[in-house]
Amino acid sequence: MKKIVITIDGWSSCGKSTLAKQMAKELGYIYIDSGAMYRAITLYFLRHHIDWTDKAEVTAALKEITLEFHPNQKSRQSEIFLNEENVEYLIRDLVIAEKVSEVAAIKDVRTFAVSAQQKMGKKKGIVMDGRDIGTTVFPDAALKIFMTADIAVRVERRFKEMYEKNPNVTIEEVKNNLEMRDYIDSNREVSPLRKAADAIIIDNTNISMEQQLNYALDLLKKIKQG
Ligand code: DC
Repeated sequence: MKKIVITIDGWSSCGKSTLAKQMAKELGYIYIDSGAMYRAITLYFLRHHIDWTDKAEVTAALKEITLEFHPNQKSRQSEIFLNEENVEYLIRDLVIAEKVSEVAAIKDVRTFAVSAQQKMGKKKGIVMDGRDIGTTVFPDAALKIFMTADIAVRVERRFKEMYEKNPNVTIEEVKNNLEMRDYIDSNREVSPLRKAADAIIIDNTNISMEQQLNYALDLLKKIKQG
């Protein structure tokens, strides 16, 4: 069957990556977590004390960064490598979450990431999630999904996930971080988070992961038939 590009955008922590991974598995597609790229760049900037308000420093730093995704042999999920180091786990820390929206708002950072993402989509057969995938990265994608869920549900989900790794994290910290990221992501100048005009909304506040997957697969079937 002809392979397509599937984009999944939406607010922070509304299950984009869960759906994207499920769809990729079901279809034999590659899943790309575009947020991981912004997180890995943020990790590099923090480690190297890059002043990201300084354009020249950002340009020089980006030249030193290579990002690649490699499948984990055990989990079969793709993991991100920053200059050949697996940073998949490190980039999920709250320290990164607190700075990533600021870094992702920088024009040169976005140009760098978007160009890498577009290369990954050349052969089609991918599901990519993020904030601007259906609007900027793949405006011609055959299936675009925009995900949303109530903020209380999103906070609860992200808190559970973070608490498992760090029991010192508080629900207030998680809530403040989500609200701050949503605000910066949707108000920045360069490709802010927006629903593409032709994206289909999935609100998963009250539906199960299975229902969400079935709904998305039905959308795909309709597109392929139509
Ligand atoms: O999906 P995530 O929460 O891991 O993304 C981390 C941050 O990266 C998010 O706050 C916004 C930014 N991001 C972006 O600006 N554009 C994307 N395509 C993906 C993520």
